[in-house]
Amino acid sequence: MRLSERQTPRVIVDVHRMRRNIDRMQQAVGGGGKRLRPHAKTHKSPVIARAQLERGASGICCAKLGEADVFVEAGCDDITLPYPLLPTQAARLLALLDRARVRFIVDDVEVARGWSEEGVRRGVRFEVLLKVDVGFHRCGVAPGAAREAVRAIAGMGGLSLRGVLSHAGHAYGATSETVLAQIAADERAVLGAIVEGAAADGIHLGEVSVGATPTARFSVSEPGITEMRPGNYVYFDRTALGLGAATLDECAMFVMTSVVSRPAADRVVLDAGSKTLSNDLARGFSPQPGHGLVLAGLEGLDTLPSLVVERLSEEHATVRVQGGAVTLRPGDRVRVLPNHSCVVSNLVDEIDLVEGERVVDVLPVAARGRIA
Ligand SMILES: Cc1ncc(COP(=O)(O)O)c(C=O)c1O
Repeated sequence: MRLSERQTPRVIVDVHRMRRNIDRMQQAVGGGGKRLRPHAKTHKSPVIARAQLERGASGICCAKLGEADVFVEAGCDDITLPYPLLPTQAARLLALLDRARVRFIVDDVEVARGWSEEGVRRGVRFEVLLKVDVGFHRCGVAPGAAREAVRAIAGMGGLSLRGVLSHAGHAYGATSETVLAQIAADERAVLGAIVEGAAADGIHLGEVSVGATPTARFSVSEPGITEMRPGNYVYFDRTALGLGAATLDECAMFVMTSVVSRPAADRVVLDAGSKTLSNDLARGFSPQPGHGLVLAGLEGLDTLPSLVVERLSEEHATVRVQGGAVTLRPGDRVRVLPNHSCVVSNLVDEIDLVEGERVVDVLPVAARGRIA
């Protein structure tokens, strides 16, 4: 099957680039003496998880139990959920624990106590990591409260506190390489101080887990980190490009789309809207406008900088022609590099794996929609 025979819009992944991304991250993280535990929320595919594990990943991350169900069913037996589970989910977690090692995070002493009671009652020890807020200000205990939390949680029955974990999501707002490097250095310093404080209290925290694609290239050489959990790197996207995490020729996922209307010289309408591209805007050192980067045709890296994906309806992209002679007519095809590939995965049942214009395989997005 050739790409030109496919109906559009169609999400496509360049197999060669994806494999190269997997290899490069594995080499970088392994070369830094750390374990790689990729976040599977980007691809939601056991096939790709298997490729990551075969290259040396020590396990995977899933965001939710429902996502983990799919990967455990497919044979992945070492999963971390860097997500704050609630004790009301104990029965679902236990069902997974029969078949796999599954760890999760806690960031609240009372919630940890709830898990502890569940563990004691059911005669198991849940493996947990303390989530630390290193600046993203989403989940996580504040660094100043971490020592106390470690003491409390380490002393609870039914729990085994394995270490500390953070996600430097604020790296997505970085304005330069220097800022990114500093975020990675600060993250390591915060976690290192918690590990030292715990050691002084006689508590061994063996796992120091960080994870975000923008900081990955700096974290690999930070001492004291044992594990990295990037996810986005498998495909990258326009945001990764804007943050210097990837070059255009490392971006593996595109949306192939057709021109369906050319109502004016300065306007082109494509058949991929927010239900394909998502409404996420691009981030980066100097964020670029629009809902994706338009590339000419079905192959190559020929960007069309005079086109800005200005507006998305559910099924249309309204593209502004900023100048230059753009000859696009209804029926012509272009590719769009999405702003955020992880969300795009979750919007389609399957993805075409391509080599040039050839569709070499169709990848089911098996954990698509597993948001609970
Ligand atoms: C807790 C956690 N760990 C790891 C990751 C992976 O980060 P990235 O998407 O930058 O690769 C994410 C992403 O959202 C996350 O929330």
